[in-house]
Amino acid sequence: MKIGVFDSGIGGLTVLKSLISKYKANYIYFGDTLNIPYGEKSKEELLKLTEKIIRFFEKEKVDLIIVACGTVSSNIYDELSKKTNIKMINIVYNIIDLIKKDNPSNIAVIATKKTIDSHIFKNNINNIIEISCPKIVPYIEKNIGNINDILKEYLSFIKEKHINNIVLGCTHYPLIKEDIQKYLDYEVKFYDMGKILLENIKESNLKIEMYFSYLDENLIKNINNIIKEDKSIDKLIL
Ligand code: DGL
Repeated sequence: MKIGVFDSGIGGLTVLKSLISKYKANYIYFGDTLNIPYGEKSKEELLKLTEKIIRFFEKEKVDLIIVACGTVSSNIYDELSKKTNIKMINIVYNIIDLIKKDNPSNIAVIATKKTIDSHIFKNNINNIIEISCPKIVPYIEKNIGNINDILKEYLSFIKEKHINNIVLGCTHYPLIKEDIQKYLDYEVKFYDMGKILLENIKESNLKIEMYFSYLDENLIKNINNIIKEDKSIDKLIL
């Protein structure tokens, strides 16, 4: 089975890693690093960019597309899924279902500006606090800024109120989970959108191909750091 996974950049690799630990398949990853960040773009721009990715996956004849981007899932999923016959998975709906089952009382979501502005979490989960964190993706992708200052700016309210359920509403954020845990010096339960369960997966040999619309040395280093400790990735076409 061929599965397409995409994001604006390297964040969706957190979803890919989680998928390959569960399902053997032929994965094709696309990171739109040329156009990152998606979290600041209009719906029209997002639709234009992601439609190109869908066409690429159609050419590659994938059987399933995982939208490994919170911003796309929360803003243009319905419009985008109408543009193809390939089944698509929305990771935000997945995590919302999981949170509803747990029904935690003390919960916040951190995500890109565009995801927070969509209020997809607030509209589906009672009393959730929404915090937009536009500086985190540029820090992860391009090493812009200082992570301690960034976390202090966005998470001081969470820390002050001792909120102990945190939704990582952007697929980049699991990459700084340890920094977040260190900053919040109490025990936190993280809801990570990468941990999705798929139904009706027909397993095949594990093969992973990755495509990025832009690459430089720094990005290649970051990609290798994310995937290097994963023993299941043995065939990588970059
Ligand atoms: N990983 C994307 C998300 O989940 C990041 C969006 C961006 O490029 O700003 O929202």
